[in-house]
This record gives sequence, C-alpha cells and structure tokens, in this order.
Amino acid sequence: MTVAFVLDRAAAVLTLAGPHRPRAGKAMGDLCILEDASVAVSDDGRIAWVGSAHNLDVPGDPPRIDCRGKTILPAFADAHTHLVYAGARKDELEMRLAGADYEAILAAGGGILHTVEATRAAGEDALVAATLARIDRMRRAGTTTFEIKSGYGLDLATELRQLRAARRLSDEHGVRVRTTCLAAHAFPEDVRAGRRSRDAFVDEVCDTILPAVARENLADYADVFCDRGAFSVEEARRVLERARGLGLELRVHANELGPTGGAALAAELGAVTADHLLFVDDDDRTRLRAAKVTAVLLPGTSLVLGKPFADGRAFVEAGVPVAVATDSNPGSCAIESLALVLALACYGNRLSPAEAIVATTHNAACTLGLAHEVGRIEPTMAADLVVLATDDYRDLVYHAGSPLIEAVYSRGRRVDRPADETASP
Ligand code: NIG
Ligand code: FE
Repeated sequence: MTVAFVLDRAAAVLTLAGPHRPRAGKAMGDLCILEDASVAVSDDGRIAWVGSAHNLDVPGDPPRIDCRGKTILPAFADAHTHLVYAGARKDELEMRLAGADYEAILAAGGGILHTVEATRAAGEDALVAATLARIDRMRRAGTTTFEIKSGYGLDLATELRQLRAARRLSDEHGVRVRTTCLAAHAFPEDVRAGRRSRDAFVDEVCDTILPAVARENLADYADVFCDRGAFSVEEARRVLERARGLGLELRVHANELGPTGGAALAAELGAVTADHLLFVDDDDRTRLRAAKVTAVLLPGTSLVLGKPFADGRAFVEAGVPVAVATDSNPGSCAIESLALVLALACYGNRLSPAEAIVATTHNAACTLGLAHEVGRIEPTMAADLVVLATDDYRDLVYHAGSPLIEAVYSRGRRVDRPADETASP
C-alpha cells in the first residue's frame, strides 16, 4: 500500500467511528471527534490511516496538506434524489409562490406529468449529460454518493432509459450511485384521461416494468409514491410485494401529504426506508422502529412547498434511525446542496448539528447498503472526505449556505473543481 497524501493536522476529524448499523436515539449524535488529527489516503483511494497528528505513522514521505484550523468529515451521501430528468419546472415555482398548491398542480395534469413528457422525449445521452451537470454541482457541495430514482417515464422504455442513464454515471463516470425504480410515481396521462384504469397501470408496473428492470439488474431498490392523490396503500402494497419478490429492496414515499398509511406499509413490508413522513403519529414511529426502517427526512421539500417540517426530534426520541436527503427533483425541491439541507434539518426538523451530520453521512450510507464503504473515516473505507474551512463543524448550520467547503474527495480524488485542475491533491 502506498500513501498518496496526508491531510495533516486538522483541528478536528469527525470520524463517526462505530458499528456498521444505522444509528438511533442518543447514538445519532456520536461523531467520535479526533482533535489535531491527520488522515492518510492510499493511492487506491482508501483511508490508510487516521489518528492524532503526532502519532502519524505511514510509509515513505507522502505529500502533506496542511489542514490546521480545518475540519475533516465524511463526504455526504444523498439517500433520496430524482436526478435523472429532462426539462425544468420554474414556471411552477412561480405559480406556487403566487399561491398555487403542489397537489392541485399535479391533479390538473401538471407537475410530475410535465417532467414525464420532457423525459420521454430525451435520449439516454442527453439524460446522462444533464444529470452529470447536476452531480458536478452536488459534488462541489460535498456529496459523493447518490441514490437516484426513475419515475419520470411511467412507461417501460423511459423507465429503463432513466435507470440505464443512472447506471452509466457509475460505470462510465465513476460516480457512486445506487438506483431505485419508481415507476409507480404518478398515474400516466391515459389513466388520468380515463382511457386506461388505475389497476391496468399497476398491472403494467408489476407484470412488465419491474420484471424488466430486475432482469437487466438496473435497480437496487423499488419505491412507490404512496400518498393522497398518488398511489393508495393497496396499490402500493401490490407494487412493493412484487418488487420484493423480484429481489429488490424497498423504499417508500410516505405520509408527505396526509396520514395515508404509507409509513405503516413500509414497516409491514420491512422497507429499508420510509421517506418524507410529515404526517405520522406515535404508532407509526413505534412500527418503524420495530421494523428497523430508517426515516428519511427531506426538509428542502417542506421549505420549497411551504409545508410543515417532519418532526425529527420525535423520531430520534422514539429510537428510529434518521437520514436526511435533498429529494432533488425538478418540481417539489430542486435544491442540490445536501450541506444546505443538513442545516434545514436542524432549523426545520429540530435535529442537532451532530445528528444532522450522522443523518447525511453514516445513516444515509447504511440505507444504501454502503456502510462498509462510505460515511465514516476509518482505515479501508473509501477516502470520500470533505474539508471545511473552519475548526467547528457547527458552522455548517450556524453559517448555513456560506462557502465553508474547501475540498471534496471521492475515492481520494478531488471532485470539487474542473477536470483540468484535479491533478494535484
Ligand atoms: O419526492 N412526492 C413525489 N415525488 C417527488 C416530487 C417529484 C416531482 O414533483 O417531480 C418528491 O417530492
Ligand atoms: Fe422524492
């Protein structure tokens, strides 16, 4: 093993050292901080060593990058995004700011269905290019691991194209991506117009789209938008059971618009995550905890849609592991910076800064089956790191939105600046 470089003498290294499982309750605030510490990165892009700077013990004389006065933490993992899409919906943003309601826009055939039209018309290369541009901005804001959902096709060809585009981001561009088939995201136009029944579309998802996705190994997870104005609990159960039978793990859009039973369904089916969760009660939290479902909170969406924030404190106190993600999508929240959303999780969901860091790193990685790879700073883990220009991580919340992120590494390579500048560490 050769050490490529050392991030030396940081004021603080947030290692998050500890077990691979998601953190809940008091453990959600465990950052396991080392002071005056160094991190050595091997030339295969892994953490070679981490510890007190004066104990640094690595072979050879690798370049040292002076990190005095700075903080090093694991790069962020975004556990809920809809990043592969064509077009934008900025007109809808203005409509909502003028008082229109997200659900009313969707019910009138706008919203998600506008993006479906644009995405059906886009080729795979165009989808890859548009998504890479988004990912480039997100990496500069500290995110190096991405969950990406389909759901803007609502037909076989386009759902497959979205998922292939997402896979190409990892196969051809080295981005760490986990994919989710969200074919049950909305009912397509022919169902709205009454030319096809809701059941017939659910049949298509179960009998055609999911089996094709599984056959080509295009998705790691399946998801359903189980909510008011979208899929009912019974429709969602059919889709999720079928997906599970095909070997996919489950994530569920649940209880965003009303207390619709999606969270209980996620617990019943043993989903990995239930996401949004604005309208839940103590029973839901007890069920989620018992079923070991991680609550994925999306405070950017609450902010953009002018909705309440999920009660993050109640999840922590109930012992439900919490992750926080952007939900980045063309409609309900196009925010790309998980660093900013981390701050919103404090101000909106009432997480502490330490809990919000665990929620955007280790816990998020756990929901993606990547806890052995990212989310903590320990030897053999990938060198996916953020260097902050401050000695106090709480500045991410205190000075939310300020440009505190000085460097971002993915597998030991800088990913926060244009390609021609990436030669040196
Ligand atoms: O998670 N809730 C459903 N899906 C997305 C919104 C997608 C869109 O508006 O395009 C969400 O908020
Ligand atoms: Fe979403």
